[in-house]
Amino acid sequence: MTRNLRSKIIGTGMCVPDQIITNDDLAQRMDTTDEWIQQRTGIKERRWIVEGETPADLAQSACEQALQSAQLDVGDIDFILLATLSPQHEFPGTSFFLHEQLGGGEIPCIDLRAQCSGFLYALNFADSLIQSGKSQRVLVVGCEVHSTGLNVSTEGRDVTVIFGDGAGAVILEAVDAEQDTAGILQVRLHAQGKHAKRLWIDAPSSADWPQRITQEMIEAGRHFPQMEGRYVFKNAVTRMPEVLLEALSAASIKADDVDLFLFHQANLRINEFVAQKLEIPEERVFNNIQRYGNCSAASIPMLLAEAERNGLLEPGKVVSMTAFGSGFTWGSAVVRW
Ligand code: UT7
Repeated sequence: MTRNLRSKIIGTGMCVPDQIITNDDLAQRMDTTDEWIQQRTGIKERRWIVEGETPADLAQSACEQALQSAQLDVGDIDFILLATLSPQHEFPGTSFFLHEQLGGGEIPCIDLRAQCSGFLYALNFADSLIQSGKSQRVLVVGCEVHSTGLNVSTEGRDVTVIFGDGAGAVILEAVDAEQDTAGILQVRLHAQGKHAKRLWIDAPSSADWPQRITQEMIEAGRHFPQMEGRYVFKNAVTRMPEVLLEALSAASIKADDVDLFLFHQANLRINEFVAQKLEIPEERVFNNIQRYGNCSAASIPMLLAEAERNGLLEPGKVVSMTAFGSGFTWGSAVVRW
């Protein structure tokens, strides 16, 4: 008889660099103010790496914490999935450097690209590996270093003020769904490529012939992220409630029965809009964007790690996680802790 398997989160971890960049620090380098940034985004400060720190270093620290909290060694893991939009190198990405630093032997690993929804996409793949019986334990990581790719001048201020560096990790383990009610209950994902250029980095591009990066491209600032902020905002506040309800309905759970809502940390105003639309009380939403800014694929696993450390995630609690980002991609996952 085949066992009915479910993926349970058995460990969480997070890491941010020590260097704090306040809104006032940014105001010294571009035409912006602490007041504008706080009013429009809710962000007070973010963390940026210093010379010598790498994305894999942040990811390593988050993963070691997750392994420790699950009382496991890296040798107990049989797949590493790392979501990022800011790979350490164009190829092979970030996960292979993390793999080496963790002493991953020959455990398979991949980078996954789904931008700010990347962690939920990775969670979905990890869940499929576990439910199919192909993997017993999967390490799922979200990791971003935005700071080294930003236009830190007035020209780039709309994008630059929102992003921060960080990493978060969780470990999923196969459990018998008949014996254990905890685990991933549902994940729902969507994408719409027609919006790809509304939030993107143009260069380097392997479609640029005959050379993917030139001095002219750099001078034109095509290597910096570009965003149609209001367009992205409007889509986020529509798609996030939609997919959140879709995942809850698939799990046969009412919004009232969710103990904790974790939203992607792009802009506090987006999350307030979503909560208001669904009549979710403030105390059931946990945000940390005020301290870390938007860490894209790392935002949700960082929230999970902090929520667990803060005692917000006790066994039996129902958690709803929802994200929206470049691609466009969006998704939602429902988990019983
Ligand atoms: O994580 C992936 C998904 N990303 C998102 O979900 C982000 C979605 N978008 C946003 O969060 C917001 O659009 C932003 C925070 C990026 C921008 O806020 P906004 O309220 O949409 O401002 P805006 O872009 O419409 O700009 C309004 C004004 C403009 O000035 P004028 O044209 O009205 O004179 C901007 O030039 O604010 C100006 N502005 C700034 N002023 C001071 C834009 N950025 C800044 C800034 N400081 N940093």
